Amino acid sequence: MDIHILPLTKSDIPEAVECIQTVFADDPFFRYMFDQSSYNIARNAASLSAHFLHGLSINAPIYVAKVTSLKKSGSDEESRIIGICWWHLPLSTTSRTPFTVRAQDCLLSLRQLLANIRYAGRGGLRLHRYRQWKELQARMHAKIWTNTRGYYFCNVIAVRSEMRGRGVGRRLVEAVTQRADAEGMPCYLESSKGMPNLLIYEKLGFELVSEIECVDGKDICTLYCMIRPPVKHESEN
Ligand SMILES: CC(C)(COP(=O)(O)OP(=O)(O)OC[C@H]1O[C@@H](n2cnc3c(N)ncnc32)[C@H](O)[C@@H]1OP(=O)(O)O)[C@@H](O)C(=O)NCCC(=O)NCCS
Repeated sequence: MDIHILPLTKSDIPEAVECIQTVFADDPFFRYMFDQSSYNIARNAASLSAHFLHGLSINAPIYVAKVTSLKKSGSDEESRIIGICWWHLPLSTTSRTPFTVRAQDCLLSLRQLLANIRYAGRGGLRLHRYRQWKELQARMHAKIWTNTRGYYFCNVIAVRSEMRGRGVGRRLVEAVTQRADAEGMPCYLESSKGMPNLLIYEKLGFELVSEIECVDGKDICTLYCMIRPPVKHESEN
């Protein structure tokens, strides 16, 4: 069985969406953000697809892990996405966002608006919780980020359960951390799970720096904020 780490392509999007939805079905952050009684999986897929199209159009680093195997007929190969790692590019706080990115941001908003109309809403997203998280995140980032060059933000990492513990997550993360190291840039992620994820991310070079606690009534969701400082490799000395 060969596993390849490849940049996401447009034709990968439906399977990448399904992979994320499967892996995150029991995720604490997903459960906190979405009202399970009104959750609409098709609306969620439309939103994820719109974000992937946005990411592709601005060259965001989004990688998929694909397993290729021979078809039962033995003649052709088939491939399956078994993991995905989706990053946001660093945003400098001192320079203006490029026009192309702003244009793609507008297109993303338009796609989301059309999805709202098509699916008659946000598919169960609890907007007040989403806004609360964004506000807490912005406050916390203002404290921890003094580097004006920004950071690579690992927005989503997901490996199908049957493929975990075989180095796929490491290979997906390293596709971007190696680039970040070469550029001298830090990386950042928010883990919605404590253990074992904190241990896994520590092995990938991340350190816990803070926590975001979202509270709404009796519901609480803790996000573990981790930074990976750039590593200087021997060949760069
Ligand atoms: C987190 C996740 C992406 C890791 O992917 P993975 O393919 O299982 O990770 P790897 O096999 O590459 O392991 C990476 C490192 O963590 C270690 N590790 C893996 N599972 C571990 C566990 N349960 N406990 C401790 N360490 C573990 C590995 O040994 C490896 O370190 P090493 O290379 O130094 O030996 C995967 O578990 C996952 O998708 N989990 C569910 C979704 C999720 O929680 N996503 C993130 C939400 S923030």
